[in-house]
Amino acid sequence: MSALLKDPLLRLRPMRESDVDAVMEVETSAYPYPWTAGIFHDCLRVGYCCWVCVLDRKIIGHGVMSVVAGECHILNVCLHPNFQDRGLGRKLVNRLLSIARQRQADTAFLEVRESNLAALALYRSMGFHEVGIRRGYYPADKGRENAQVLAVNL
Ligand SMILES: CC(C)(COP(=O)(O)OP(=O)(O)OC[C@H]1O[C@@H](n2cnc3c(N)ncnc32)[C@H](O)[C@@H]1OP(=O)(O)O)[C@@H](O)C(=O)NCCC(=O)NCCS
Repeated sequence: MSALLKDPLLRLRPMRESDVDAVMEVETSAYPYPWTAGIFHDCLRVGYCCWVCVLDRKIIGHGVMSVVAGECHILNVCLHPNFQDRGLGRKLVNRLLSIARQRQADTAFLEVRESNLAALALYRSMGFHEVGIRRGYYPADKGRENAQVLAVNL
């Protein structure tokens, strides 16, 4: 286990409205096509499950999911580039999945870019498998990119 994961200053907690500026710093540093602040405010307003990963009082990652009628949809999982590949993405997704189980979800779904090899490796190592393709789902530098739809039984 990475030393960072044992750091007593590292914790996951629910996102607050006042976190959105800091969350946007992480979001825009990690994605070529980031969500807007308005999307995060909407997710909080409608009661989606929104979490942040905090190290020494600084937000370094976030995760967003909806859980409705036995289905969990993971909508965003993001770590600041300086804190990727240290086990935090796995920790964040595990937390989201355990909340989904507590809320009686039986399946978790998510979409991921076909070119996002790190995310695909993470999700597959956690038991997600492909259940479909959404053609041209994401904007890309040249046209559009397909999404793989992944699912795991909870
Ligand atoms: C994808 C993302 C969430 C993964 O989180 P992370 O903290 O970097 O990943 P972890 O350190 O927890 O690694 C978990 C697994 O992911 C895979 N992985 C992580 N980084 C990888 C890389 N650079 N290349 C290949 N596989 C990688 C490995 O399978 C790894 O397991 P292992 O360490 O046992 O080999 C993170 O890289 C990120 O925020 N990327 C930008 C935003 C994004 O693409 N989000 C996903 C949208 S669907």
